[in-house]
Amino acid sequence: MSAPRGEFSSRFGFLMAASGSAVGLGNIWGFPTNAASNGGAAFLFVYLLLAFALAYPALMAELIIGRRAQANGITALRSISSGKKSRIAASVVGFSGIITVSLILSFYSIVSGWMIAHFFDAMAQIFGISTVSNWLTTDHPVRNSIFVVMFMTLTVFIISAGVRNGIEKWASRLMPSLIAILILLIVYVFTLPGAGDGLRAYLVPDFSRLTEPALLVGAMGQAFFSLSLGVGTMLIYGSYISKDENLPVTGGLVALLDIGIAVLAGLLILPAMYAALANGVEIFDVNGQLIAGPGLIVSVLPSLFETMGSIGIFVSLAFFLLMAIASLTSSISMLEVPVAYGVEHHGIDRKKASIAVGVVVTVISLMIVFNFDPLFDMVVTFTTEFSQPLLGFAFCIFVAWIWRRNDILLEIKQGCPDAESGFFWKIWPFYVKFICPVAILTVYFQ
Ligand code: PHE
Repeated sequence: MSAPRGEFSSRFGFLMAASGSAVGLGNIWGFPTNAASNGGAAFLFVYLLLAFALAYPALMAELIIGRRAQANGITALRSISSGKKSRIAASVVGFSGIITVSLILSFYSIVSGWMIAHFFDAMAQIFGISTVSNWLTTDHPVRNSIFVVMFMTLTVFIISAGVRNGIEKWASRLMPSLIAILILLIVYVFTLPGAGDGLRAYLVPDFSRLTEPALLVGAMGQAFFSLSLGVGTMLIYGSYISKDENLPVTGGLVALLDIGIAVLAGLLILPAMYAALANGVEIFDVNGQLIAGPGLIVSVLPSLFETMGSIGIFVSLAFFLLMAIASLTSSISMLEVPVAYGVEHHGIDRKKASIAVGVVVTVISLMIVFNFDPLFDMVVTFTTEFSQPLLGFAFCIFVAWIWRRNDILLEIKQGCPDAESGFFWKIWPFYVKFICPVAILTVYFQ
């Protein structure tokens, strides 16, 4: 047997770790522009609805399986399956989760590397070394490789220290800092000319868009990616929660934190984009859509910071620090999935497992860096649009159709003794059994 399993020391520790996993690049560059291009508050409304009606039940499915099994994804899914066929399916789903999350990490680390490069650029400007500044902000495979390696080294460093001394310790430091930086930036951006237009684009609802399939698909993909679902991340974090913890409440808090920070990020990004527009920066692409994703972060916003004069350097420093923190607390949760499997299933020492998986993921990232155009979008689409929803679907099937209902209730009752008569138990089983799978598939085939 391998070393004893880790456990989060408190509810706060778990909340910081799980919301750290959830809050990432998806919240900051995905959610705000998605909202603004899809009907503003109408999108927000659909998003909130889907997040609570679909993503929260799916999140609970992972947390409950994880805490019950106290094991990595593959072992956990196998342990709740009784027949031979379902055990084989469990292994397939578990392995697919490991592969998917490793591939997500391989593109995530590239983008996170850009964030660190831009952070160093702000530092360089503060110290007056503008020659490196150019190198740091120019997209180039050599620069990208160096920062991928740097970012992955940080991720491996934290994961090799274990659940309490690595994940929990760092998430508990970084997440409060992230929230503080975010609020400070929002307050500052609100004072800029043009910010009010951004707020309007974000918050004035256009309900005529509510019926568009693109809006639904966008909101659901966003909710699943944002809550780190389908790939075993929440399952493994759930497996480190104490048996005294009330799961429905704790899971609800994670969802609230994730959604809350996404909504807050919108209060930063859209006013900032419209402030940039007021300063002559192009914020729409050729199709008239708001620029989203990498373009927003590494081109639109830096152009805005440049127009701000010397204070812009500090705003840029704070912004890229925020992005780097958001990425790091997510990337550690991704690396934990394969590492936990290696440690528990193959008895490999945690440090060795972290380094080994870290090296494999870094090599894949470097392959993407050097073949960016054909590979990057392909890996993103395959993992987030194809694999993640299907695996989320599979998780729902496992809890609702394969796992015995009584066992689920017994698990929830630990830490929540009167669960049986509570609201959660009245509707959740029905949701994961019927509504979630059907909704996921419907939206998927859209
Ligand atoms: N939730 C993270 C984000 O919003 C991404 C993520 C996906 C993290 C899957 C872990 C697993 O950026």
